[in-house]
Amino acid sequence: MSEFLTGHAKAHTNIALIKYWGKADSNLILPTNDSISLTLDEFYTETSVKFRSDLKQNILTIDQKQQPTNKLKRVNRIIKHFSDMWDGPKFAEITSDNHVPNSAGLASSASAMAALSGATMKATQTKLSLKELSSVARLGSGSATRSIFGNFVHWHRGHDHDSSYAEPLESPAEFKINMLTVVINDQPKRISSTNGMSNTAQTSPFFKEWTNTANQAIDEMKQAIKSGNFSKIGEMAENNAMQMHATTLSSNPPFTYFEPDTLKVLQIIQQLRHDGIECYATIDAGPNVKIICQNNNLNQIKNSLLSEFNENQLIVAHMGPGIKIY
Ligand code: PMV
Repeated sequence: MSEFLTGHAKAHTNIALIKYWGKADSNLILPTNDSISLTLDEFYTETSVKFRSDLKQNILTIDQKQQPTNKLKRVNRIIKHFSDMWDGPKFAEITSDNHVPNSAGLASSASAMAALSGATMKATQTKLSLKELSSVARLGSGSATRSIFGNFVHWHRGHDHDSSYAEPLESPAEFKINMLTVVINDQPKRISSTNGMSNTAQTSPFFKEWTNTANQAIDEMKQAIKSGNFSKIGEMAENNAMQMHATTLSSNPPFTYFEPDTLKVLQIIQQLRHDGIECYATIDAGPNVKIICQNNNLNQIKNSLLSEFNENQLIVAHMGPGIKIY
């Protein structure tokens, strides 16, 4: 019997090129704008879910550390979503390991919630398509919606649970891009993405404009991905990230995720571009900069960064695969 109660999954994290920033429905986690991301090979979460009839609540262990039960709101939600559909046990023992290079300072909620959804689906023997699974992962964390699929992914904002899902985007087979992460600070962020987006939505006069501009950018970004137009993808991603961060600076009270070293990296990127080396920046709700680049320029970009940063602050990731459920 017990093998029917157990499921495993491995999901990779993703970085948005057109960011999700703002909720239209904070309970269902429906975003105000569509987003597009790149799944990365280097960072992933492996999760096992084992339903046990002797449990009265879920137990979560992350990287060998048992988590306080009052911190499991989103995890409980995913488990309940599936366990409501069956007659089996309602609670599970969940073991999750994050494979993120030491001190990468990267959020793992996208890969974690995607892996949890996949493993729970398997443990409860529920049959969902990957598209349907992406909607369930969304209930754990918005960005997890996109971590169900590999490479380039589009999250449709939708208007209810079923219509807010992700799907993979096609790009030319030979087209490859990298993300070089510059780790500036590996501590948890002071303002969570949930609070950050809620503050800006409520107080920034630019928020509506951000939403419209991001939604309008989707078709053009899809076209750039389809044709493998690196320059267009990079330019649009950098613009979109700066527009998102402009909403934090224009909030009341104002705030920023940037640190002095964040600006230092942006200046290095601008200088590299000025010197004819193509690379672009994207930044999430934290100070670390991800540099979008191609193989041929990787060494030169790294060398420029090494004048200001250490080798162990630089992590290169490539395009990564979709979820594996077993
Ligand atoms: O999924 P959350 O709640 O961690 O929000 C992610 C928000 C950003 O990383 C800033 C943008 C994105 O689309 O991933």
